Amino acid sequence: MILAIPAVLSPQEVCVFRQDLEGASWRDGRATAGSVAERVKANQQLADDDPVAARLGGLVLERLAHNERFIAGALPLKVLPPRFNRYADGGTYGDHVDAAVFSVPGSPHRLRSDLSATLFLSEPDDYDGGELMIEGEFGVSAIKLPAGHLALYSARTVHRVTPVTRGARLAAFFWIESLVREGERREMLLELDDAIRALRIDTPDHPSVVRLTGLYHNLLRAWAQT
Ligand code: NI
Repeated sequence: MILAIPAVLSPQEVCVFRQDLEGASWRDGRATAGSVAERVKANQQLADDDPVAARLGGLVLERLAHNERFIAGALPLKVLPPRFNRYADGGTYGDHVDAAVFSVPGSPHRLRSDLSATLFLSEPDDYDGGELMIEGEFGVSAIKLPAGHLALYSARTVHRVTPVTRGARLAAFFWIESLVREGERREMLLELDDAIRALRIDTPDHPSVVRLTGLYHNLLRAWAQT
């Protein structure tokens, strides 16, 4: 399942992000790619210890911590501090699968990547190409979201970014270790959560609302690893 989460950042925040990123110290993205990914990666990134990346990444984490849709869909246990990339002048990232385990910079902690996330920071009209192509059970999905919106997808997927042939595509990207490791279970929990939310609006006093809410938490209790 690919989940599009709207308005993680406001339009004003996106403007500030873009201004700050335009003047940042971009580096060749291949420096952080593994030996397989290195051959297909042609973009720019900010270093993990870049002060602009650290400040903006912190802001993204703050917004995510209060984003109900993100929490319901990802059931996050750990979120890697966001990194930032830039695709321009034909920049692209060919087919690859993301690494399974990441070190959290500046800490002894590690994180298993259950979910990959891309936060779009450029408006779709400002660049050509740059679609995030994700292979799934029913074919390939092309994802290109408005600035400030987040795409959340399984880290197990083969995916790529098509060449940017006009303008520049700025994005933040990061990985999430979920409380619930299995994607099918996360999807069922989200489905149940959505249904309960709808019932709470339509029939808030029906006793089944409490029972279904209990069922949600008991399933989460059974499946969550902390
Ligand atoms: Ni990737």
